[in-house]
Amino acid sequence: MKILIIGSGGREHALGWKIKQSPLVTKIYFAPGNPGTKKIGDNISIEVTDINKLLKFAKDKKIDLTVVGPETSLVLGITDAFRKEKLKIFGPSKKAAQIEGSKTFAKELMKKYKIPTADYFTFDNSNEAKNYLQHAKYPLVIKADGLCLGKGVAVCKNRKKAEKFLSELMIDKTFGESAKKIIIEECLYGQEISFMVITDGRDFLSFLPSQDHKRLLTNNQGTNTGGMGAYTPVPFLDKKLIIQIEKEIVAPTIKAMAKEGCLYQGILYPGLILTREGPKVLEYNCRFGDPETQPLMMQLESDLVEIFLTQQKNQLKKKELVFKKGFSVGVVLASAGYPGEYKKGDQIIGLDKINDKDIQIFHAGTKEVDKKIITNGGRVLSVTATGSTLEETIKKAYQFIGKKNIHFKGMQYRKDIGKNGLIFGDKYD
Ligand code: AMP
Ligand code: GLY
Repeated sequence: MKILIIGSGGREHALGWKIKQSPLVTKIYFAPGNPGTKKIGDNISIEVTDINKLLKFAKDKKIDLTVVGPETSLVLGITDAFRKEKLKIFGPSKKAAQIEGSKTFAKELMKKYKIPTADYFTFDNSNEAKNYLQHAKYPLVIKADGLCLGKGVAVCKNRKKAEKFLSELMIDKTFGESAKKIIIEECLYGQEISFMVITDGRDFLSFLPSQDHKRLLTNNQGTNTGGMGAYTPVPFLDKKLIIQIEKEIVAPTIKAMAKEGCLYQGILYPGLILTREGPKVLEYNCRFGDPETQPLMMQLESDLVEIFLTQQKNQLKKKELVFKKGFSVGVVLASAGYPGEYKKGDQIIGLDKINDKDIQIFHAGTKEVDKKIITNGGRVLSVTATGSTLEETIKKAYQFIGKKNIHFKGMQYRKDIGKNGLIFGDKYD
């Protein structure tokens, strides 16, 4: 089989790494890919938003299955375009991808179908929103309706901060049309969990739960980022809680989407918060998480391509996802300045030193120039390790990061990826 993977991040490198292990696969293409994916297949220079070119490429090369990484392509309707031409593609339709593309759509769905989430109000008028802020309870959370590359959400401690962010969204229009509508919602407290399932629109299979680390700095300090690292499974998320999440959140969401005429097929990834009242949805994503996919792929035992093909035939009920015992931990190495304006072009040292089957280096913001790998993005690499205990796996991942191993000028990374799992581990056992 010939597979086309859309995207260029660590998530797509990890998906490619796993897909390559399937005996069903003869060739993998990445659009546009990165220097890491180049070692697995062919990179082709088509952007993830250029649906027409991607479609033409898939037709010309007779691609058997296309796997979509980023939400941008899904929200633009890549799935619908490919299906119209009878091409197999993994990911939800444009209509179903609204679950991530429009936060107001997602909130209304949750309200209508009684899926637990934060209480909220929607505004499309900045004066009304500003009036609301005068009498609101703080802290509160303001969210732009549409996609903003992870920058459209702010937890606001007081009115001053809230008014400033509201102004950025609705007056300065920093995110353009994406913030035409906004949501103001109550602030929730608890551990954040990433829970991904694969679904054919009716049945679903759950991946192991994972935990991302959104803040830039160690001990959850600093600004929000796309994610500075992740680990899986999460020791404090026991079987009982997983069943509760499946029953109260995942199954009702899939059912609700079908009822609303938005049959949901692909990865459904609710970002959850474990509150005192139980798990609640913070947001839905319509694709695999990044950086969670990197450790998840290292834990997955099942043939991912076989799973995708079963999903395409709407037969997931007959399958199961099998995972290895133990843990995987992925630490993101980011450029100086990230998540703000970041530096590019520094050589990455030490990549050739790693030769250990328990370690994978997944590329994201890298570039190859004169046979050297240089930094070319905010999140540069995910150093991902697998091992039998969480403690040992964390050590393994960090062992390969630093001056004597992998490093580059201005490199930033958190020192505590996975530690939450150790701290809270026993509490829920
Ligand atoms: P989202 O894109 O909706 O997941 O929001 C990004 C981040 O903002 C989340 O990962 C949380 O850390 C935080 N967040 C979003 N909504 C809430 C909420 N209602 N209460 C507390 N934190 C939130
Ligand atoms: N890990 C956060 C995301 O993929 O949206």
